[in-house]
Formats: sequence, C-alpha cells, structure tokens
Amino acid sequence: MSEVFGEKLKIDIFGTSHGPEVGVMIGGIPEGVSFDAERLQNFLLRRAPGQNEWSTARNEADIPVFVSGINTSESGGFTANGDVIEAVIKNTDVKPHDYEIKAVPRPGHADYPAWVKYGWIEPGGGAFSARLTAPLCIAGGICLQWLESEGIAVRAHISSIGDVRDSDISEEAFVHEDFPVIDEEAGRWMKKLITAVKEEGDSIGGVVECMISGIPAGVGEPLFGSLEARICQAVFAVPAVKGIEFGAGFRVGNMKGSENNDPYYIDGGRVITKTNNHGGILGGLSTGMPIVFRTAMKPTPSIAKVQDSVDLDRMVPAEITVGGRHDPCVVPRAVPCIEAAAAIAVCDILMEEGLL
Ligand SMILES: Cc1cc2nc3c(=O)[nH]c(=O)nc-3n(C[C@H](O)[C@H](O)[C@H](O)COP(=O)(O)O)c2cc1C
Repeated sequence: MSEVFGEKLKIDIFGTSHGPEVGVMIGGIPEGVSFDAERLQNFLLRRAPGQNEWSTARNEADIPVFVSGINTSESGGFTANGDVIEAVIKNTDVKPHDYEIKAVPRPGHADYPAWVKYGWIEPGGGAFSARLTAPLCIAGGICLQWLESEGIAVRAHISSIGDVRDSDISEEAFVHEDFPVIDEEAGRWMKKLITAVKEEGDSIGGVVECMISGIPAGVGEPLFGSLEARICQAVFAVPAVKGIEFGAGFRVGNMKGSENNDPYYIDGGRVITKTNNHGGILGGLSTGMPIVFRTAMKPTPSIAKVQDSVDLDRMVPAEITVGGRHDPCVVPRAVPCIEAAAAIAVCDILMEEGLL
C-alpha cells in the first residue's frame, strides 16, 4: 500500500481501524526541532472521535506514545534527536463485529475496489478508515508547530456544510476550535443540519477552506512539482476529499481576465496583489500571498438508510443497512486533518528547497 509521503520529510503511516494500533514514522526532522506536547495533544483532540453529537460515538483518547526519535524536554515537550520519530496510538474502543460487512460492499466506501484488489473487506474500512488520519495528525501537528516557529501559519475552517456557509477565511479571522467556524451563527445552523440528517439515518457533505500564510514568494516548481500538485497529493490522502480548488477555483471558468487577474502593488517594499484569485500560487510557485484552497468533502458513505448493493460471494443483488458508529458529517473532524496534510506538504517542499 502507498502510505508513504514526501521527498525530504518521509511520512509512513501504518495500522488499521480495528487492529491493535495505528501509528506513524516521520523521517527527516533534524535534531533540535522542539515541540510542545500539550499543544500536539490538543490538536489531536480536535480530530478525535466521540467528542460531541456531530461525530461518531467511537470513543478514543488518541494519546500518542513516542517510541523513538525524541528527547523529552524539561518543559514537558520534546525535541527531535535526528532519528526517525515513531509514534503509535493504541486503538481502545474496537468493535470489529459491529462493522462486519462480509461480502456486501457499502456504496460510497472503498469496500468494493478493496475486495477486488486485496480479496477481502476489512471491518470498519481497515486501512481506508479515517482512523488513519490520527497518525496523519501526529505528523501534521509536529509540522504545524515547526512551521509556526518559522512564521508560517496553516489554518482551516468549515467553509460550508450542505447549503450553510461560513464567512471566508482571512489572516485575521478567528476560527473557533470546538466547532471550527468563523461565524458562530453559521455554526449553529450547520449543527442543526447535521443533527437533522443524522435523525434521518443519512449524512451530509461540505467544504473545508484552508489558508497557509507566511510562505515567501518563489517556492515550488513548474510542471509536476508544482506547489498545488504537492499540496493536493498530501490533502487527497484525507479520506472523503473529492475535490480541491485554489483561489477563485472553478469560478475562473466564468470570469474575464480583467476580473480574475490580481493587480500588483508595493507595500512596505513588498510586492503584493490587491486580490487573491490566484490563491497564492502562479505557475506552480508561491507568490508570497496567502495560499488559499478549498476541499470538497463528500457525505459519509456509511449511512443507516437501506441501500442497494450486491452480494459478491453469490453475485446476486443485496440490500445493505450500515451498522456501527459513524460520523453523520465528516467535515468538522476533517478540518485538522486538512491542516495536517497541508503542513506536511509545505514542510517537505521547504526542506527540499533548503528553507527549513
Ligand atoms: C474525519 C473523517 C471521518 C470519517 N468518518 C467516516 C465514518 O464514520 N464512516 C464512513 O463510512 N466514512 C467515514 N469517512 C470517510 C471514509 O473514510 C471515506 O469516504 C472512504 O475511505 C472512501 O474514500 P474516499 O471517500 O476518499 O473515496 C471519514 C472521513 C474523515 C476525513
């Protein structure tokens, strides 16, 4: 399986949803880079399940145990010692039998293509489960703190759920942590919508918007190594991401050049643009403006409604009603995952260019 990411920063994620543990090996972080353990734990809590009625009832504390690569510091944090950092999280609330799907694949989940490729359907999605975003967030949480120490911030929020929209992100916008929106009123409507679809035994999708600020101009490559492509490769590792747009994104298809082009001006000796339709990247290179992208998150595939499927053993039609504990909407818990993936991609590129 391709669970390894990075050119200079090597992220290797392992484990399964209902196996004994999930974990990550992080290679390339130089000796002396320091992290605050409490901040990392708080970051992991933003993704952890069982926190509120809008997420799955699975209850995992998601406390990482560091096996190698760090020295514990006096302040209660830790410092990379130059070795590969390995961290594991024990799965504690495991109920594989609640998730047995035998040979009837869930529509919308990875069950069918995984059955064709690997020959079985694993309970709870196995390596395709969002449980693997816990180790992604360990690596991403470490990268976020490292970037922050270099003046680079990565922040995301819920841009929309269904047809309820939050305000657009800006460098000044305050994002609430418990339910990551800027506009609390929009957040209340989003919660109501999630509760309503949950009561119907259904699920709902949404959009996460992310801003990376503090990247100097000129980072990235043309063609295959474009900054957009590198960020996308990491962000598409987050399950349920089905689309990514940068800046004005798909709206550019309906714009004139005079509307879409972002005029330049000089401010305090810096070249900046009056608008940011280009989303901070031109020709695969950063322009020094904040990098802004939005990810379309699909509705959770595992829903309680009766759906048509097939019995793959007998090759006959079958109906499925998915049991187990599932998020009625993946979007709130996906927000830190998107931040983590973006931070990993940015760290890797900056390391490659000798800027980190
Ligand atoms: C934070 C998060 C939580 C998720 N929770 C669930 C869930 O409870 N049930 C489910 O069926 N899918 C859930 N998903 C989505 C599936 O893992 C995903 O749709 C599936 O692996 C297929 O991959 P794809 O949607 O990227 O094609 C979640 C995704 C994320 C990011």
